[in-house]
Amino acid sequence: MLIDKVNPVAFDPMNEIHNNELKYVNALYEALEKNENVEKAYEEFINDVKNHFAFEEKLMDKYKFFATVPHKMEHQRILNELLQLQTRLDDRELIKDYLKNAFVPWLENHVNTMDTVTAGFFKMVNATI
Ligand SMILES: [Fe+2]
Ligand SMILES: [Fe+2]
Repeated sequence: MLIDKVNPVAFDPMNEIHNNELKYVNALYEALEKNENVEKAYEEFINDVKNHFAFEEKLMDKYKFFATVPHKMEHQRILNELLQLQTRLDDRELIKDYLKNAFVPWLENHVNTMDTVTAGFFKMVNATI
């Protein structure tokens, strides 16, 4: 397993989405280790990342969150990296290294900073999905 948990935030629908993402990234890591179904696992992972980001962005727009632009920029940056890596799936070690040393630390940090502030805002405005 690559990552067991991320810290909870103040808005439960986001926690659900984050926990779901851990399943996909762990499944991808396992696929890479076994060298089985890597393309499919990567596709499912990246679709989940897109859904995760789109969910937060839709609510940020709906409730006019004050830091929508920097939050979206962080999402876009990591999504671009993931899309670029999708062209390098033949290099299993590169992908594993990226997930372990770039994606996971990014996700932990993003949840602890941007997402924590955003979730606090959603809670404050009684956001509904
Ligand atoms: Fe998030
Ligand atoms: Fe986010």
